[in-house]
Amino acid sequence: MFIVVGVTGGIAAYKTVQLVRLLVKGGHDVHVVPTQDAVRFVGLPTWEAISRNPVTTSVHDDVARVRHVALGQSADLVIVAPATANTLAKMAAGLADDLLGTTLLATTAPVVVAPAMHTEMWRHPATTQNMATLLERGVVVVGPDSGELTGGDSGPGRMSEPEAILEVALAQVDARGMGDARTADLAGLRVAVSAGGTREPIDPVRFIGNRSSGRQGIAVALAAADRGAEVVLIAAHVDDGVLAEASARPDVRVVRVGTAAELAHEAALAAESADVVVMAAAVADYRVAEVSPLKRTKDSAPGGGITLDLIENDDVLAGLVAARRDGQTIVGFAAETPAAGETLLERGRRKAARKGADLLAVNEVGWSKGFETAENALVVLDAAGVVTATPSGTKREVADALWDMVRETRAKAK
Ligand code: CTP
Repeated sequence: MFIVVGVTGGIAAYKTVQLVRLLVKGGHDVHVVPTQDAVRFVGLPTWEAISRNPVTTSVHDDVARVRHVALGQSADLVIVAPATANTLAKMAAGLADDLLGTTLLATTAPVVVAPAMHTEMWRHPATTQNMATLLERGVVVVGPDSGELTGGDSGPGRMSEPEAILEVALAQVDARGMGDARTADLAGLRVAVSAGGTREPIDPVRFIGNRSSGRQGIAVALAAADRGAEVVLIAAHVDDGVLAEASARPDVRVVRVGTAAELAHEAALAAESADVVVMAAAVADYRVAEVSPLKRTKDSAPGGGITLDLIENDDVLAGLVAARRDGQTIVGFAAETPAAGETLLERGRRKAARKGADLLAVNEVGWSKGFETAENALVVLDAAGVVTATPSGTKREVADALWDMVRETRAKAK
């Protein structure tokens, strides 16, 4: 794909170097268009070396090939990262006083922006209004995330991580029927997908949770919607920003839940009319027996430690399998940390036998594996424990491979 990456004058430009690297690694033809200000943060030689293409900031270079419009005309996708408040204002006004401005006006490709600025600037009514204008025009926004900002401030305004921008940007191209998008091969299917991690309260301020970011489950839901399915997404706790795209789509109904019991209720409700249910959520196995109505204080445990009594939650997936209707397909996930003497596959097979789902997507996890990343690798087992696929790649690619397996399973069952 021919991808233009606009870089504007913010310190987050250093993270865009990684974004460009990921795009080039993905086999794309990447053309970086920095603004004059941006090259004060990261210089032209870096952009040229990383993108492997010539880089200029000027509309007056390469005039014979009308570079000021050619880039925009050729682009399959335009990403602006970081997008400063100034650039967003210029985009909203349609200004074309530099190469990035002319490129943006000359393109009909999807445009994805990753804002980065101080919280006050992000919240200023002028920026809010400019963002509303851009959103109305179909520009897709990633972030900004909350966190540390330059100079010791913190709050919303940090540019999203390169992996998150990459994922959203490539999904735009798939969604608009370019790239390697599949056809609407799930049209007519009603699908329920659970995602994220449940939270079991201890008291009004504390909970027992887990590290699930919701990325894989949401990718499964979006992939189904892009392929024509009607989707209910049951979202437990998910990371900042990852739900934005699903919430904005008319073909995805998002239902928020907190605890495992709430998730069980919504999943059972959605399953009544769903042809396929995918349980990608990380559901708490235990809940606190007695939730304290008031915040627990150290005064109540003068001797030192405390003990929490935990009771087992219902297994939602097992309940869905027990109530499965004819023609309904149920997919489970299994997050495993294989112990010594037992392979991932052996553990997965045991779980597949115990759960009885039509497909079980087994996922190796660890301290630095499987969570909060844009990539994943699965081993997909059928009900008999036979490996049917081993997809790896972005969570979106993995999600599409999972839907391919669902289609195959349903075709075989007919
Ligand atoms: N699951 C569920 N209800 C639970 C626990 C898990 O529906 N109370 C579902 C998950 O959504 C996932 C699958 O079961 O699809 C496997 O989850 P996992 O946590 O790997 O398995 P557990 O059954 O909890 O087994 P263990 O933690 O002992 O490995």
